[in-house]
Amino acid sequence: MECEYFGLRSCRNRNLLGDKPEKEGFISMNTNPSEKMVILSGIQPSGNLHLGNYFGAVQQFLEFIAGGHRCYYFLANYHALTSLRDRARLLELTRSTATDYLALGLDPERCSIYLQSDLPEVCELQWILSTVTPMGLLERCHAYKDKVAQGLSSDHGLFAYPVLQAADILIVRSNRVPVGQDQKQHVEVTRDIAQYFNSSYGEVLTIPEPYIPEYVAVVPGRDGQKMSKSYGNTIELFASEEEIRKQIFSIATDSATVAEPKDPDKSTLYAILKLFCNPEEQLHWADRYRSGGLSYREVKQAVFDHFMEKFGPARKRREQLEKQPEYVAEALRRGVQQARAVARPLVLQVRDAAGIPN
Ligand code: TRP
Repeated sequence: MECEYFGLRSCRNRNLLGDKPEKEGFISMNTNPSEKMVILSGIQPSGNLHLGNYFGAVQQFLEFIAGGHRCYYFLANYHALTSLRDRARLLELTRSTATDYLALGLDPERCSIYLQSDLPEVCELQWILSTVTPMGLLERCHAYKDKVAQGLSSDHGLFAYPVLQAADILIVRSNRVPVGQDQKQHVEVTRDIAQYFNSSYGEVLTIPEPYIPEYVAVVPGRDGQKMSKSYGNTIELFASEEEIRKQIFSIATDSATVAEPKDPDKSTLYAILKLFCNPEEQLHWADRYRSGGLSYREVKQAVFDHFMEKFGPARKRREQLEKQPEYVAEALRRGVQQARAVARPLVLQVRDAAGIPN
C-alpha cells in the first residue's frame, strides 16, 4: 500500500524493531521535512498491548523518534480511571504497559515516557481549560454521547475526559498528535479549546494537529472487526508463545477448501498477514490465494512466524525488563522531569494570562 505521508514507497515492513530507519523523517504532508516537531501521544493502560496498538500507534511513535522529533509518550492512567475501577489491576497495567513501551523500543534516551499522574500540571491546566470549554462541545463527544445513548449512566470524569486530554496535549506545546481515527474528535476538541483560551487571553497555547496516516486506519481483529480489547479479538504482543499461537490460529476464515481459489481482499487472515509483509510479499501471497491450493493453516503459520520474527527481540527485552523494575521506574522519573521542564513554565504562563497570581 502506498503511503504518501512518509514519502516512502511502502509503510509496511520497513523499520522493524531495532532496525535503522530507512529515511530521515516521519513527516506529514503539510510539514517541511527539516522542521522538528513536538510530538505527543498517550495510551490508556487499560489492557495488554496488541497488534492493533502496535501498528496503529507504537509504530508511528517509533518513526517520530527516528525522525529526530521531540517526543512525549505517556500513560493516561487518570483517563483509565473512567473505565477501570480496580486498584490492583490499574497499578499492574500501568507498570506493565510502561514496560511494554520500553521493550518495544521507545528509548528513554530519545523520548520522554511518563505517567500522566506524575505530571500534576496537567490537572491544573485542565481546570483552567474547563472554564473556557462550552458544554455543547463536550456533549457532542462520542465516548460520553455513546454511553448516554446506550442508556447507561455517565459520570463527570467521562464527560470531562476530552478536557483532560486537551490538557495532556497542550501542556508540552505539542504540534502533532499521532492517534487512531477514533481519537480524531478529541484532537479537534483540543484545538477548539485552545482557540477559545487564546481568543480570551492572548496567543498562549500552541494549536496542535492530529496525525492519522491512512494506512493505520484499522487493524482487523481475529473476528474481522476492528482489533480491540473490548471485542476480545486481539493478538497480544507479549502473551506466551503458546497463547499467541492459539490467538493466531483462531483468526476467522471461511470454509473454502484448500484447492479452491480464494479472494485475499475478503480475508481477515490476509489483512493481518499483510501488516508484516513488504509489497512484493503481499503480491506473492495474494497470488497464492487466487490460484488455489493454499491452506489457511499455512497462512496462519506464516503469520505466526512473521510475528515471532518481528516481536521476538522485544519479547526477549521485555523479559529482561521484568527483572529490572528499577530501570523502568528510573525511565519514568526522567521522562516526567523532562516533561515538567516544559509543563511548569506553560502552566505559569497560562495562570498569569488568566489572572491567577503566580
Ligand atoms: N484518549 C486516548 C485513547 O483512549 C488516550 C489519550 C489520553 C491520549 N490523552 C491523550 C491520546 C493525549 C493522545 C493525546 O486512546
